Amino acid sequence: MPQQVRGVVAHKKGDPVSVETIVVPDPGPGEVVVKVQACGVCHTDLHYREGGINDDFPFLLGHEAAGIVESVGEGVTDVAPGDFVILNWRAVCGNCRACRRGEPWYCFSTHNAAQKMTLTSGQELSPALGIGAFIEKTLVHAGQCTKVNPAAKPEVAGLLGCGVMAGIGAAINTGKVGRGDSIAVIGCGGVGNAAIAGARLAGASTIIAVDVDDRKLGWAKDFGATHTINSREQDAVEGIQALTDGNGANVVVDAVGRPETFTQAFYARDLAGTVVLVGVPTPDMRIELPLLDVFGRGGATKSSWYGDCLPSRDFPMLIDLHLQGRLPLEKFVSETIGLDDVEAAFHKMHKGEVLRSVVVF
Ligand SMILES: NC(=O)c1ccc[n+]([C@@H]2O[C@H](COP(=O)([O-])OP(=O)(O)OC[C@H]3O[C@@H](n4cnc5c(N)ncnc54)[C@H](O)[C@@H]3O)[C@@H](O)[C@H]2O)c1
Ligand SMILES: [Zn+2]
Ligand SMILES: [Zn+2]
Repeated sequence: MPQQVRGVVAHKKGDPVSVETIVVPDPGPGEVVVKVQACGVCHTDLHYREGGINDDFPFLLGHEAAGIVESVGEGVTDVAPGDFVILNWRAVCGNCRACRRGEPWYCFSTHNAAQKMTLTSGQELSPALGIGAFIEKTLVHAGQCTKVNPAAKPEVAGLLGCGVMAGIGAAINTGKVGRGDSIAVIGCGGVGNAAIAGARLAGASTIIAVDVDDRKLGWAKDFGATHTINSREQDAVEGIQALTDGNGANVVVDAVGRPETFTQAFYARDLAGTVVLVGVPTPDMRIELPLLDVFGRGGATKSSWYGDCLPSRDFPMLIDLHLQGRLPLEKFVSETIGLDDVEAAFHKMHKGEVLRSVVVF
C-alpha cells in the first residue's frame, strides 16, 4: 500500500519551500523504502530551490541522509529491512564506460528509483540528486543505500552522503594528499573543512585554511588546519607560499568555485602540484590564464565530483574511522532542526552562520 508522509517541496523558482503530504509507492523491483532518521541541509538544495540546477519543479529536496531500511522490492539482496544505511547519489551501474575501465567513481549512468513519489494531486516530484530525503520515508534504488555500522549517530552519518564526502574525497581521492604533504584549502565551509579533516587523516603535515570569514577559520583549526589565512587581509598566494618555504602547496583545493579562488589555487601550488576544484561554478564564470603558465607550472588541475568517492568502499571505512575517534564528523553538525525549519536553515547557511543544519526525525 502506498504511504502518505510529510516532506519538503520547492514548487517554484525562488519561492520559500513548504512541507507537503507526499505519496510514497511500495518498493518495486530493485527499489527500497527507507525511514529517514536525519538529513543535512546542503547548498545544493538551495541551488535546486533557486532553479540553478534545472527547471524540473516541483522538487522534493534533501539528499544528505541516513536512515533505516523499511521494506525492499523484488530482487534486492544487498540490504534488508532494519539495516542502517547512508543514502548516496552514486549507485554505480557496473556497465558504463567508466565502470568497465575500473573507475566506477566516474560512473556515468548511476541508478535511481524507477517509480516516482507524488503530491496527493498525483503530480510527480523530482527528488534532489535522485534521492529526496527531507521526508519521513523515501523511495530510492537499492544501490543508493550503503550499509554502515549502526553505532554511528544518524545526524552525523548522513553528512557523508554529500558535502563531507565531497570535501574529504577532494583531498584524499582526487588530490591524493598523503603523509608529509602540504595542502591549502580555499573556502572553509562544510566542504572545505571536510577537505581539511581528510588531509589530517591522511597525514598532511602543513594544512593551510583560507577564507574571508574568521569564524570559518576558527572552525578550520578545530578540524586540523595548522595555519590560517584571511584572504581579505592578506594575499592568499603570497601567504601560502610563505608557509611552504616559498614554493606553494603540494595540493590546493578550491572549495569555493569562483574565477578568483581558482586563480589563487592555480598559482598557490608548488611546481608540478595539483589543483582540485570541488566548489561548483555558475555558467557565466570564465577564467583567463597565460597558456605558458599552464604549461610551465606543470602538474595537474582536476575537478572532484562527489570527492571521486565509491560509496560502498568509502562510507563504511569513514564511519569506522569516525567511531574510532579519528574523524570528528560530529563537529560539522552546527544544529539539529525539524522538518518545518528547512527554509530558516537556508537563511542561516546564506549568512554563513552554520556548517550544517541537520533535520532529525
Ligand atoms: N563537487 C562536488 O561534488 C560538491 C558536492 C557538494 C558541494 N559542492 C560545492 O562546494 C562548494 C562549497 O560548499 P559548502 O557547503 O562548503 O558551502 P559554504 O557556503 O558552507 O562554504 C563556502 C565558504 O567559502 C568561503 N568563501 C566565499 N568566497 C570566498 C573567497 N573569495 N575566498 C575564500 N573563501 C571564500 C565562505 O566564507 C564559506 O566559508 C559549493 O560550491 C557547493 O556547491 C560540491
Ligand atoms: Zn557505471
Ligand atoms: Zn549536497
